[in-house]
Amino acid sequence: MRLGLAGIRETGIGRDALRRAGSARTSARHAALIALAAVTLAVSVAACDAGGASANATAAGANAEAGAKAAASVPASASAAPVAAAATKVASHDAGQSRAQVYESVRQMTALGKQLFFDASLSGSGKLACASCHSPEHGFAPANALSVQFGGSDMHRTGMRAAPTLKYLQAVPAFAEHYHESDDEGDESVDAGPTGGLTWDGRVDRGGEQARIPLLSSFEMGSTPAKVTAAVKAAPYAGAFRPAFGEHVFDSDDATFKAVLQALETFEQTPEVFYPYTSKYDAYLAGKAQLTPAELHGLQLFNDEQKGNCASCHISQRTRDGAPPQFSDFGLIAIGVPRNRALPVNRDSHFYDLGACGPERTDLKGRDEFCGLFRTPTLRNVALKKSFFHNGIYHSLDQAVRFYAERDTHPEKFYPASKGKVQKFDDLPPRYWANLNTEAPFDRKPGDKPALDEAEIKDVVAFLKTLTDGYQAPGATVHVATTGAAAN
Ligand code: HEC
Ligand code: HEC
Repeated sequence: MRLGLAGIRETGIGRDALRRAGSARTSARHAALIALAAVTLAVSVAACDAGGASANATAAGANAEAGAKAAASVPASASAAPVAAAATKVASHDAGQSRAQVYESVRQMTALGKQLFFDASLSGSGKLACASCHSPEHGFAPANALSVQFGGSDMHRTGMRAAPTLKYLQAVPAFAEHYHESDDEGDESVDAGPTGGLTWDGRVDRGGEQARIPLLSSFEMGSTPAKVTAAVKAAPYAGAFRPAFGEHVFDSDDATFKAVLQALETFEQTPEVFYPYTSKYDAYLAGKAQLTPAELHGLQLFNDEQKGNCASCHISQRTRDGAPPQFSDFGLIAIGVPRNRALPVNRDSHFYDLGACGPERTDLKGRDEFCGLFRTPTLRNVALKKSFFHNGIYHSLDQAVRFYAERDTHPEKFYPASKGKVQKFDDLPPRYWANLNTEAPFDRKPGDKPALDEAEIKDVVAFLKTLTDGYQAPGATVHVATTGAAAN
């Protein structure tokens, strides 16, 4: 059970206090301001450069244009922060650069990161790129319906988790055991419990650190810093490293590997690719599209605290300062997803993926209160996914939503039986059951009415389908860039 949420209810602040969705933390906001200042400055540099814009100023101008495009659809605080963070990071690495140069570096790193993302030569097998598991056409989730993806040097190895979407990660705060919203987001005194961090268990905070995991993992890309360095030196884009990272980038494998990680992280922060806010629901919030009766009903059920209560964790409303909802509060929560017996790792009946308390994550090992917790994913673009939950056990949204509606009223539909008795929560040893969430819709027992009936489940699914980016209003002629087009 999530203390923070119960606490919030008791204080009567209600859902409003949960709207950390924009999640630009105070520091990110500052960074956004700095970036906006940088963009403004860059634009004026470009404007002043009467004798024909220099290469730097043009690039900065282009970047400003991209920023402005994103800012036109969403509030600046939500769109500019990560670019700004990247820009200011570059700036702090290379003090003495002009802002235009900083922006040019970000642009170069982004271009390089994109090429690295699609390059299978970085992997030990030579067959696996980031994009193999994170397909741009599928919201950067897998294109196939496998619960877990194949990898490793022989491409026969698997891990224990489903590959998540890489979109809207810009809003994930750094992991905190006790998350407190900043004062302008909500009530600073409320402890929302463990929140944030990347991956299903929140074990890293930055995209760069994250990228290290699949590159080096024996069951994913199975590479080494030396192999990655050799691959990028031989790649057609090798010449782009020195302009982006400086003369010394090839001095050591370590320096090159770090540059690769930073380029990937910078690419993952491209607003128009990774957080464009172009779903039908965004258009609806902006008053530019209407939801069908089924979608609208689905939204009501999604928000209704007595029905789906989905929005208590998957935030659906704009933040108080107008930032679009992220469809996650990024809390780490135990919802008791059934054991996926199809996973090779689960052939060992003593093995459990306990999320935040291990085994992938090691710093909270032995902390029982973290066992079974996984980070709440965004539901944006969820309809492009083909496997759901951390172990990829379900392969349709209907099944995923039915699990919420009937986990407690009809547990036999989800868990195996042994000697006629349903083995509820079969992927979490009983000593951790106290960690399981018991709020609606998980507040029922056999014999009770499910929180959602079959028709309601269908409507919730119809609503979830409005969260896919790239929506075009019927009859609209303006082309909205889709993730696929933008990333290819
Ligand atoms: C073999 C499939 C595979 C490949 C290849 C792969 N990933 Fe992943 N990715 C995953 C899985 C599985 C997870 C979830 C890992 C976990 O929770 O432990 C993940 C998680 C992530 C996350 C965190 C997402 C979140 O919701 O917090 C990021 C970012 C990411 N990957 C980026 C990359 C990058 C960059 C590359 C290339 C260097 C890459 N991935 C290559 C499977 C893959
Ligand atoms: C108490 C918080 C909470 C509530 C309430 C909640 N969710 Fe979730 N949701 C989570 C967490 C945590 C996960 C990941 C769990 C895991 O994989 O172990 C998740 C995962 C999902 C997924 C799978 C996404 C993916 O990328 O694999 C879907 C779909 C989903 N939720 C939909 C809903 C709907 C619909 C409702 C309302 C009926 C709802 N959720 C209510 C916390 C919540």
